[in-house]
Order: sequence, then structure tokens, then C-alpha cells
Amino acid sequence: MHSEFFKQTQRYREGVAERILSFLSAEHPASLYEPMRYALQDGGKLLRPILAQVVCEAVGGDQEDVLNAAAAIEFVHVFSLVHDDIMDEDDMRRGRATVHKKWNGNAAILCGDAILIKAYEALGRTNSPHLFRALAAFNRGILDVCEGQALDMEFEDRDDVSLDEYFHMIDRKTARLFSLACEMGALLGNGSEEQIQAMRSFGMKLGRAFQIQDDLLDLLADQATLGKDVGSDMHGDKKTFLMIYTRENASAEQFSALLSSVRKERLSGAEIQNVISLLQEIGTIHAAQQQVSDALNDAGKSLRVLPESEPQKLLSNLLDMLEHRTY
Ligand code: IPE
Ligand code: IPE
Ligand code: MG
Ligand code: MG
Ligand code: MG
Repeated sequence: MHSEFFKQTQRYREGVAERILSFLSAEHPASLYEPMRYALQDGGKLLRPILAQVVCEAVGGDQEDVLNAAAAIEFVHVFSLVHDDIMDEDDMRRGRATVHKKWNGNAAILCGDAILIKAYEALGRTNSPHLFRALAAFNRGILDVCEGQALDMEFEDRDDVSLDEYFHMIDRKTARLFSLACEMGALLGNGSEEQIQAMRSFGMKLGRAFQIQDDLLDLLADQATLGKDVGSDMHGDKKTFLMIYTRENASAEQFSALLSSVRKERLSGAEIQNVISLLQEIGTIHAAQQQVSDALNDAGKSLRVLPESEPQKLLSNLLDMLEHRTY
């Protein structure tokens, strides 16, 4: 990650990492708690809980107002990753073996389930007059993530997915959790109704950019830096921005050249390079980068409802950092 932003957010990262750990003291049975600790300790960027914390401060709240909810959001995120890796048949996450690879599928299902329960345990510790509303938003947000994941899988078996359908799907599987994190920060920090709505929308736009970029990184990133399987989307016949844009804009020959890369076996490094060249020629890479940059710009506009302050500046820096992220 951008080292300046990394430094600026260290206090938030350490705060939430410590809070997450405080929910992980149980040890027996080890077949449940070891995978949980493994999935939750080290490695993740903690972007969603950091956003919740920074937004909370940006509307005038204190760290402690949002820290349990921030931990809860990261629990939901990690629950979704553990199950997503089973669904996407991926071997690597955060630079290590995925839970279902290191243990097995059943252990990973249960591990994800229990992490989701931890999310509710953490959220329940929130001391706020807004807890009831926070809980309703939380439930709706997680269900949206599940809907997005269902659509992501449905689309694997379809060849006619439109860009509109794609945006509908990523708004649920990915943007919604960013949006929930920002909404929780504003709500629990006692922000105004206008600020709560603006932060919700900030999170949606940022999250949209984040997933289009994730689709790009699946091809462009260096596997060791990314910490997850590069080329996984081709292997799963995922309807990513890259795939759909290419289908709509390439010649029949170009598109069939791309389709020959979609198959059950993993792509070699050289094959990935060929796909990148093809997508560059068609203009897909540029179009995706433009979408990311437009969505981040759009997100920036929502920050206008916040008073000028250090946390507000940090949110703006985050947008700059995201535009150039490499993992
Ligand atoms: C990965 O999210 C899942 C997506 C929504 C693309 P992150 O890239 O935030 O994953 P970690 O938490 O840093 O590992
Ligand atoms: C993930 O989408 C969204 C989730 C809800 C986990 P991806 O399947 O593209 O995420 P990665 O690339 O595995 O992190
Ligand atoms: Mg995945
Ligand atoms: Mg997935
Ligand atoms: Mg991905």
C-alpha cells in the first residue's frame, strides 16, 4: 500500500487489530479456533474498519464509539473471504494458503460461520443510542453481500451479462460493505442525517472503484505482492469488467482469442501476458482504469459534507492511494 497512507492510518489499524484479537481468546476445539485465528491475524489491509474509524472522527465522534462496530465489519469481511475462496476454488489469500487448502472445506465453512457470529458479538458491545438502527443496516448490508455473491456465481454460467448487471452485482458483493463501514462510522459518531447518507454513498462509489480495480489486479498484479491467485477470474469464467467490456467492444476474432484463455486449468505467466496485450489492444485496460478513476472522483464529491479536518483529509488521501494500489 501507499506508504504515506499506511503511516497515517497506523493508529487506526493497530486499534482495530487489537480489538479483533480481544474476541479470539477461545482455544478449544482447536479445529474451530485455529482456522479462525489464522484467517483473522495479520495480512489484511483492514481498509473497511479503518474507514469506519476515520469517518467516525470526521463527523466529530470518538474512536471508542465505533471500534466494536469496526471490528464487526472486518469479521464480516473475513467471513466472506473464507467462503469466497471455497466458492472461487482459490489456494492463496493474503500471501498464505486459504483456510480450505490448509485445513479442508468443512473446516472453512464452519470457520466462516463462527467468524460471522463474532461479528454480531462485537457489534453487540457497541454502546450507542443508535445500536438498533446500526443492527438493521448491518443485517441488510450482509444480506446484500450474499446476494452479490449469488449473482457472481450465477454469472459464471451466462455469456450475456451486461455492464449494468455487472455493476448491480459488484455494488452488492463489494461496494455494500465499504458503504456499511462508512455509514456505521457516521451513524455511531453521531453525524447528521445528511452526513450519514453522504458517507453511505461515498462508500458505494469507493467500493465500486475497488472491485473494478480488483478485477484489473487479477491480471496485472504480481502474485507475491497481491497475495492471492493471479488469473483466478479466467479460471472461474467470472464476468468481470474486463470480460464484459471486451465482449462488447472487441472484434469476433479478438473475443474468441480471449475466450480460449477461459478454461479449467490455471494460466501460465506467459499466457497472462498475452491476455494483457490483447486487452490493451482492445482498450479494455484503459476503460477499466478510467472507470476506477471516475468512481473515485465521484466518491470525492461526497466528502464535501464533512468539515475540514485531519480525518477528512485522510479520506481524501485514501482515494488517491486507491487509484494506484498494487494489492
Ligand atoms: C478483497 O478485499 C475482496 C474484495 C472485495 C475484492 P481486500 O483487498 O480489502 O482484502 P484484504 O482484507 O486486504 O485481504
Ligand atoms: C470478492 O470478490 C467479494 C467478496 C464478497 C469476498 P472476488 O472473489 O473478486 O475477491 P477476491 O479477488 O477473491 O479477493
Ligand atoms: Mg475470490
Ligand atoms: Mg468471488
Ligand atoms: Mg477478485
